[in-house]
Amino acid sequence: EKGGHRHFMMKEIAEQPTVVGKVLDAYLTPEGDAVALDLEGIDFASIQRLSIVACGTAYYAGLVAKYWFERYARLPVDIDVASEFRYREPPFPEGTLGVFVSQSGETADTLAALRFATGEGIRTLALVNVPESSIAREADVAVQIHAGPEIAVASTKAFTCQLATFAVLVVKAAQARGALDAGGVAELLAALRKLPGLLSHALAVDDAIRTAAEAIAESHDVLFLGRGQMFPLALEGALKLKEISYLHAEGYPSGELKHGPIALVDKATPVVVLAPHDGLFEKTVSNMQEVMARGGRVLLISDARAIAQAGDEVWQAITMPDAPEFIQPVLYAVPAQLLAYHAAVAKGTDVDQPRNLAKSVTVE
Ligand code: F6R
Repeated sequence: EKGGHRHFMMKEIAEQPTVVGKVLDAYLTPEGDAVALDLEGIDFASIQRLSIVACGTAYYAGLVAKYWFERYARLPVDIDVASEFRYREPPFPEGTLGVFVSQSGETADTLAALRFATGEGIRTLALVNVPESSIAREADVAVQIHAGPEIAVASTKAFTCQLATFAVLVVKAAQARGALDAGGVAELLAALRKLPGLLSHALAVDDAIRTAAEAIAESHDVLFLGRGQMFPLALEGALKLKEISYLHAEGYPSGELKHGPIALVDKATPVVVLAPHDGLFEKTVSNMQEVMARGGRVLLISDARAIAQAGDEVWQAITMPDAPEFIQPVLYAVPAQLLAYHAAVAKGTDVDQPRNLAKSVTVE
């Protein structure tokens, strides 16, 4: 049942190239050169703003989507965790589409948030993994993320499938709103088609990550840094590590380091930097130098070009395949998941059933 793996979590991590491929098969044309996802009358051209609501890992998928919708589709996005949204009862500007993200489709706060939005009369779209779930049934339109059953409590393949589904929606929105020309749309689609293959390559970092994770498992506190669309991956990496290895971990936007968290940095506090080469990499290098100057150990997860530029003071570097910028957040989920997995195995915790956690949070 675990497909030869020791834990469901590892099986589900390894399934990602396949299930992300299923998302693309479901929502792109057979040639992969256009979006073929019917939103039953929801037209991004007439939407003024998105309000994305979710909890935990699904929230972090929504946070990546915010960067994408704003950048590629020029569509403003609000994002909230469901437990805040539902009690804050925010007003909705004209033309708001509510977007609810939930693997289980049963998370109590997300469901209550959906009911609030429905009561306010806005249109609602759900991204769900369980087609017959409450959230799928109650939203105006439900889009399946096609991850298949996720057994491990810590979410892995649902996250990357949520991201892949959002990526398709972003391309659709960019096109409908005229935010990208045909060439721009073709570029994003070409990037998406590379995802299954690149996810397979990314899984090859497993050995290198295990070595780093065994060292990290000895520490008490871990910082994760990321900038721009990689910031949510820093949050996700920290959440995964907390959940299954019980190490204390925090994710921050790289630029926030000097506004507080750098006070935590010492020899005993590893800093995981998720930073593929992009227009902001220079800034990340200077953040890493600030860490290293204080004796901090940097684990840099990046591509060959950026690792070469980072210099040899970096404690450990994990070389990821080169990838188009658009899909980098999906790809970098893999090393973040593997790091948590191997740290948990090294510590001997219950990987698939971590203490105090339930797969579906149906109580508030
Ligand atoms: C993290 C995790 C949780 C869930 C959260 C939302 O690994 O599993 O943070 O992501 O409870 O659950 P769903 O997506 O079912 O609404």
